Amino acid sequence: MALFGLTACGGNSNTKPTVGNANKVLVAYFSCTNTTEAIAEHIQTETKGTLYEIVPEVPYTADDLKYYTNGRADKEQGDLSVRPAINGSVENIEKYDVVFLGYPIWHGQAPRIISTFLESYDFSGKTIVPFCTSHSSGIGSSDTDLHSLAPNAEWVSGKRFSSGTSRSAVADWIESLDLKLTPDVAVFDLENGENGRAPTVTLNSGYEMPILGLGTYSLRGDTARNSVRTAIESGVRLIDTASAYGNEREIGEAIRKAIGDGVVKREELFVITKIYPGSEMANPEQSVQACLDRLNIGYVDMMLLHHPDRNDVKAYKTIEKFVEQGKIRSIGLSNWYIEEIDDFISQVDIMPALVQNEIHPYYQEQTVVPYMHNLGIVVQAWYPFGGRGHTGALLGNETIVKIANAHNVTAAQVILRWHLQRGVVAIPGSSNPDYIRENISVFHFSLTDDEMNEIAALDRNEKYDWY
Ligand SMILES: Cc1cc2nc3c(=O)[nH]c(=O)nc-3n(C[C@H](O)[C@H](O)[C@H](O)COP(=O)(O)O)c2cc1C
Repeated sequence: MALFGLTACGGNSNTKPTVGNANKVLVAYFSCTNTTEAIAEHIQTETKGTLYEIVPEVPYTADDLKYYTNGRADKEQGDLSVRPAINGSVENIEKYDVVFLGYPIWHGQAPRIISTFLESYDFSGKTIVPFCTSHSSGIGSSDTDLHSLAPNAEWVSGKRFSSGTSRSAVADWIESLDLKLTPDVAVFDLENGENGRAPTVTLNSGYEMPILGLGTYSLRGDTARNSVRTAIESGVRLIDTASAYGNEREIGEAIRKAIGDGVVKREELFVITKIYPGSEMANPEQSVQACLDRLNIGYVDMMLLHHPDRNDVKAYKTIEKFVEQGKIRSIGLSNWYIEEIDDFISQVDIMPALVQNEIHPYYQEQTVVPYMHNLGIVVQAWYPFGGRGHTGALLGNETIVKIANAHNVTAAQVILRWHLQRGVVAIPGSSNPDYIRENISVFHFSLTDDEMNEIAALDRNEKYDWY
């Protein structure tokens, strides 16, 4: 945009991203007449990466760009050592794993400002994907000639696009690169949370899920209805139920009532339910439909398999069909560990978006959590405080109480904040309105690295349920 100052046109925000919330992608480009910029914007829309325009300190005028006139651009291309200065810089380059690097072809080469860019940062260990536009030339050696400027990067073969290439053609190219771009599911945007309003994480399905919710295991009848109502009124937007909890009807009623009363809109809520091993997974078509019927809230945001089972692949494939029909939006697994996950995902089409396991300070799953994150799967903790019979011990743990006192919050708030700071979504269950409100109020303080480490050291690998 440097020459004509046109404003960038955004992507279609209604279209689901193909690779989720990939904050790890940087789309850096130089463009004088907007041709390369348009491609960069398609890449950004597809990857949900960060767009960065390489802006020259001295903009190129129309005369500078007239080629075969021995003008500024011609002269620069004739001198390998020229390094036009760049105005501004990329913030936190270290957080990016993949850098798409775009430029126009100038006399068969990348403009020298691309050399300036490459020499300005340490690209060690990062993947660089060059792309270019031109009047008619191919990419030629313009990409490989750049390799020596970032020798420790992993360079992917570049691609030339003609002016006006469609977004879908760019999407096909990105897919063909097989970059295994995973959504950034391990780090939550906690700074944008407020007490009573949890931030969301973008699932690999493209949908957003709040990072704190209400677990409804053991809540029945009016207790379930009232808890859901209080939670919604307190700002909770994620509600977890299951066929096995026997409360989907009440949960659905409370949700419909809250929507009818104007307290919340359906699309603001994220509702998870699960089907159980045994007869439900043996007859998945009926059991999934039965969950939908009992909840009766239109679509269900996420359906989980409650446990591994001999029919789990069959059940999952059935849920995939419900996703195609728009009745269910995302699919996940509960009580799945490293041993089961790889084998499972090789047999299904849709990557699970979530794994929901028992996780608390005495059972931290220190290897399972990063393993799932590396697969782009969000991890969610049930029993975030240790579960029935163990909550008291955990909430009374000296270290946790000490940290709670230091922040003037409760032990429960410390534990929830610890879950979130390690990238684990938590769904504490409660029917007590005060606790429900307390549990969604963990955004006015943060734990220091030392405090996170102190809690990490409490791990006893002590699991309280049998799954
Ligand atoms: C100095 C200069 C040299 C160029 N050399 C070539 C070339 O060798 N081959 C070609 O096909 N196009 C060439 N072009 C055209 C540009 O590559 C093409 O218009 C490009 O898409 C412009 O991208 P932009 O709008 O992002 O700046 C040249 C343009 C300039 C200004």
